[in-house]
Amino acid sequence: MKVSDALKTRKTVRAFKPDPVPLSTLREILTAAARAPSGGNLQPWRIYALTGEARNELVRRVAEKRKTSPMGEPPEYHIYPENLTEPYRTRRFRVGEMMYATMNIPREDKMARLQFFSRNWEFFGAPVGLIVTMDRQMQQGQWADLGMYLQSVMLLAREHGLDTCPQEAWAVFHAVIRDCLSIPQNEMIFCGMAIGYADNSVAVNSLISERAPLEEYVTLLGGE
Ligand SMILES: Cc1cc2nc3c(=O)[nH]c(=O)nc-3n(C[C@H](O)[C@H](O)[C@H](O)COP(=O)(O)O)c2cc1C
Repeated sequence: MKVSDALKTRKTVRAFKPDPVPLSTLREILTAAARAPSGGNLQPWRIYALTGEARNELVRRVAEKRKTSPMGEPPEYHIYPENLTEPYRTRRFRVGEMMYATMNIPREDKMARLQFFSRNWEFFGAPVGLIVTMDRQMQQGQWADLGMYLQSVMLLAREHGLDTCPQEAWAVFHAVIRDCLSIPQNEMIFCGMAIGYADNSVAVNSLISERAPLEEYVTLLGGE
């Protein structure tokens, strides 16, 4: 597969088939992704890869916690800036509206929206769940490194016919995750990632998110 094909076909998938992913494939992807660059070659990524009973146990523990704390706790870092300004605010709004439109869930139906959102904490049915952490001493540079590792995982997944959903939603259950996976205090829980085979019979997977045109984010200086 060409890199450009992997990039073009990578999208966030929010409904997976239960079919298991061979452990050898998972190991191969997580190993190859570590060729991602990192400043000073720190390789700051730390991954907890959950399958089978380990995955199910985390899903169960979070479901239990949701009975008393349906939306979790304040995360350990700011997922978004507090007052998102334009054009970011509209971009975020639009992708949400487009996603719920695929399922015919209107804005007023908060219950249905919440119900769908809570599928995050079941890895949207994917058989593999990653929990991604990083040592707290790390700084902005290392967050970028971590992002490069995760994008590498998502592109390599395509090569194996797999799809992914990166998931900040897990950050609001950091305490449960930490306890369940015995994650040491020096690691900050950044996000999760669902990995599996897309169920394309489910409407939400038809979503193709928009991108701003080049002129909005590139300042081209100089010339030919
Ligand atoms: C770090 C990160 C965290 C994300 N967290 C979530 C999440 O918790 N739940 C979700 O449904 N999508 C999540 N997304 C997916 C984004 O909404 C998605 O990447 C964006 O809308 C662009 O769509 P695309 O990935 O299909 O191109 C996340 C993406 C990233 C990069």
